[in-house]
Amino acid sequence: MFERPKSGERAVLVHMAAQDETDALEELQELAVSAGAEPVAIVMGRRHAPDPRYYIGKGKLDELVRTVRENEAELVLFNHPLTPSQQRNLEKELSVRVVDRTELILDIFAQRAQSFEGKLQVELAQLRHLSTRLVRGWTHLERQKGGIGLRGPGETQLEMDKRLIGDRIRQIQKRLERVERQREQGRSARRRAELPVVSLVGYTNAGKSTLFNALTGAGVYAADQLFATLDPTLRRLQLAPNLTVILADTVGFIRHLPHELIAAFRSTLKEAADADLLLHVIDVSDERADETVSEVNRVLCEIGADHVKQIQIFNKIDRIGDVSPRVEKDENGEVKKIWLSAQTGWGVPLLRQALESYLGGGVIRRRVRLNPANAGLRARLYEAARILREEPDGSGGWNLDVELLGRNVKLLRELDNLIAPTPRQESISE
Ligand code: GTP
Repeated sequence: MFERPKSGERAVLVHMAAQDETDALEELQELAVSAGAEPVAIVMGRRHAPDPRYYIGKGKLDELVRTVRENEAELVLFNHPLTPSQQRNLEKELSVRVVDRTELILDIFAQRAQSFEGKLQVELAQLRHLSTRLVRGWTHLERQKGGIGLRGPGETQLEMDKRLIGDRIRQIQKRLERVERQREQGRSARRRAELPVVSLVGYTNAGKSTLFNALTGAGVYAADQLFATLDPTLRRLQLAPNLTVILADTVGFIRHLPHELIAAFRSTLKEAADADLLLHVIDVSDERADETVSEVNRVLCEIGADHVKQIQIFNKIDRIGDVSPRVEKDENGEVKKIWLSAQTGWGVPLLRQALESYLGGGVIRRRVRLNPANAGLRARLYEAARILREEPDGSGGWNLDVELLGRNVKLLRELDNLIAPTPRQESISE
C-alpha cells in the first residue's frame, strides 16, 4: 500500500472521521512518512464525540490492540489531538508509544528546523506541549531515544520536573526575544530602504520553494515532503534594472496546525503579515486545493495578514491536462490569479510581469552631492532611502549613493534638481 522506502518505526495510523475523509487520511500518511515512520496499517472508524478515556470506543480499542500486535508496530499515530490522560490510557493498553497529531507535526518541525531561531521556536513549542503532559507515567514504556515524538528536547528533559521545564521555557523565550529584536531590526531596515517585500505563502508542498528558486535562481531546498522549508528565506530579486524587491519563502501551512506552532512561528510568519504582496501558491493538481486555500487564508487571518494584497498562483499546471499559463484580472485590471508551473518555468515570466507592474516604479539608485545647506534633505533621505555610501566631500557637504522606491516621486524630483543622476545598472545581490 505504501511505496516509500521502509526504514522508520513501524506505525499504525488511527483516523476517526465524522464523514468520509479519504484526503485527510492521505495527509496523515504523508505526515507519518515525513516524520520518518513506516505506516504498516490503518485503523479507521466513525465517531462523533471522542471517548473521554481512550478517544476511541472499546470495540475500536480492541481492534487497535490486535492490529498493533499483528503488525509488530512500535508506534501508534493518532490523527487527532489527545488529552494527556487519553494518551496515557492508550499507551497502557497498547504497550507502545502513542503520538497525537500535534506531537507528530512538532516532531517534523523539530527535524526540519535549520536556523537558530527555528530550532528555538520548535523547542519552545515542544516544551509547552510537554509541560501539559508531565503527569504522564513515563516509566511504563521502554524509551527509545530519538523516536517520533521524542526528538528535540530529548530524554533527559522529558524527565525534568515542571520547574526545570519552566526555567528552560523562560530561557528560550529570552533568547527568542533577542533574535526577534534582530529580525525586527532587519525588517525596519528594509522598510527604511523601502524595498517592497513579496512573501510566498501556501499549503505545505504547494511548490513555494520551487517557485522561489524559479524566480531568484537560488538553490533553496525543495523536496517532495511536508514542511521542507521551515525558516523564512529572504532574497533580493531584481525584476528590472531599477526594480528590486525582497522575496520571502515562508513555512508551509497545514490544516489543524497545532496552535502551539502558530504561536511559536508568529514572528516568522510576520514576514507574511508585513509583506507588500502575498503570492499564495496553490497546487492545482491537489484534489484538496479548495480546502487548502481556505485553510491558508484562515491562518493568514490569524496572524493578521488578511489585509495584505494577494495574488493566487495556481501552480503545477504541467500535471493537469489542457491548461496553459494565463493571468486572470479583476474588473479594475488588477492581477488576481496566475496559472503556471514553477518546475518547468512555464508561465513564470507572466508572474514576473505582474510583479513588475504591481510594484512598478521599483527601486531607483541615485548618486547625489549635497552641500551643507541640504542637511534637511539628507535627514529625509536617511528616513526614506537606503544609503549605500556616504562620504564627506571635503567642503562640508556629502557625496551619497542612495537607493529608494520609485514611488517617492517628490523626493526623487528634488534629487534630480540637485544634480544629474548617474544611473548604475549593476545587479544587486545580497
Ligand atoms: P513546504 O516546504 O512543505 O512548505 O513545500 P513547498 O510549498 O516549498 O513545496 P516545494 O517547492 O518543496 O515543492 C514540493 C514538491 O512539488 C516538490 O517535489 C517539487 O518538485 C514539486 N513541484 C513544485 N512545483 C511543481 C510544478 O510546477 N510541477 C510539478 N509537476 N511539480 C512541482
